[in-house]
Amino acid sequence: MTSRRRFLKTASLASTAIAFSPSVFVRSASPVSRVDNAAGEDFWEDVAAQYDITPEITNLEGGYWGMMARPVLEAFKEHTERVNRESSYYARTQFGRDVSLILERVAATLGVGPDEMAFSRNATEALQALISQYNRLQAGETVMYADLDYPAMQQAMEELAGRKGAQVATLVLPEPATSMQQIVDAYEEALDARPRTRLLLLTHANNKTGLIHPVKEITALARSRGVDVIVDAAHSWGHVPIDLDGWGADYVGMNLHKWIGAPIGVGAMYIRASGLDGIDRAHGDPGPLDSIRSRLHTGTMNFATLLSVPEALDFQEWVGWERKYERVRYLRDLWVREARDIDGVDILTPDDDRLVGAITSFRLNGGTTGDANREVVRRLAEEHGIFAVARTGVDAGDCVRVTPALYNLPNDLNKLVMALRAMAS
Ligand SMILES: Cc1ncc(COP(=O)(O)O)c(C=O)c1O
Repeated sequence: MTSRRRFLKTASLASTAIAFSPSVFVRSASPVSRVDNAAGEDFWEDVAAQYDITPEITNLEGGYWGMMARPVLEAFKEHTERVNRESSYYARTQFGRDVSLILERVAATLGVGPDEMAFSRNATEALQALISQYNRLQAGETVMYADLDYPAMQQAMEELAGRKGAQVATLVLPEPATSMQQIVDAYEEALDARPRTRLLLLTHANNKTGLIHPVKEITALARSRGVDVIVDAAHSWGHVPIDLDGWGADYVGMNLHKWIGAPIGVGAMYIRASGLDGIDRAHGDPGPLDSIRSRLHTGTMNFATLLSVPEALDFQEWVGWERKYERVRYLRDLWVREARDIDGVDILTPDDDRLVGAITSFRLNGGTTGDANREVVRRLAEEHGIFAVARTGVDAGDCVRVTPALYNLPNDLNKLVMALRAMAS
């Protein structure tokens, strides 16, 4: 079966499983504004019902990975069985063509060329390859990262600098950030202070406070100073609007198993064609140097995971990219609006649409230590039946992160507000 036929087959399977009723289509045909969102609750209940989530706890930790919706899970099981049944015969004779078509769809959806994208097993693999294989850094130059970047990528920047005899510069993002300009200014000041900077790690949606960084503006600043930018977009696609081409950065690492809801084990690397020569060949890769494929050598990947990407995209498209963004922002605003008025709760993430998506972090009763924040998480779970996560690495101190997802309904956020009221001193 060709990939195209398979895609059509699975798309119709997905529609059966979702039970697309005409009324759902009508309701979902135009974007629902955040303000109107509450009125469209019946649609969102249909969406939430596509997730078989445990009733044991109210999960507000959608930031770890994106649970598969049922049609995606069903497709994943089917692909797993088929690949296992057809084994190397399928893998050797058809998988290459199928995965190329899937990559083409991913690239087309993202508005970039298929020769600028490669699948990885997660964002980490793509970003670690980009950082560690970056070859334009000279001894005495500088690499730069911020306190809100992801720890493993910070460490990779440190190791790159160490290997090349380069310096490391770090910057601390304003907390709470009050405007987009303030963030851009922080980068501008840091870049001006370190004119020998050659490489900047820039996280689009960070994992600690959820702050969205103005990638296009910061990249423009960096590039005008001859600085290459590696964008960590692990949390971006399917969560907040993104524009790989418009960002202007040559290098991006991303995930499909977070906000795209594909099975665990799929991410992607983007290298703009003009930036390919800045990244060395992956260790041990014998492929052609003029192809992005030679920049990431994963070995054998999970065939079924990759084959399930179309169904994950179908599901996202059914919900609607813009509508999903508006929904998760709506759920986020539900609790944040109330929590801002609770004495003892400090919200670390701004409300400006350009600076926030679903993720927002808070501190309770001024607690900035790891212990204090783990205790908040423990009490949320044990006393209120809510799951959230403590985050460390923010310069001003630790915090608790809350991330609603499509399986959450407004009542989950009301429950959090009640818990915060009870816990705030
Ligand atoms: C900002 C950021 N970068 C990178 C990663 C790594 O993603 P993965 O573990 O899927 O590779 C994460 C994971 O949460 C993240 O939040």
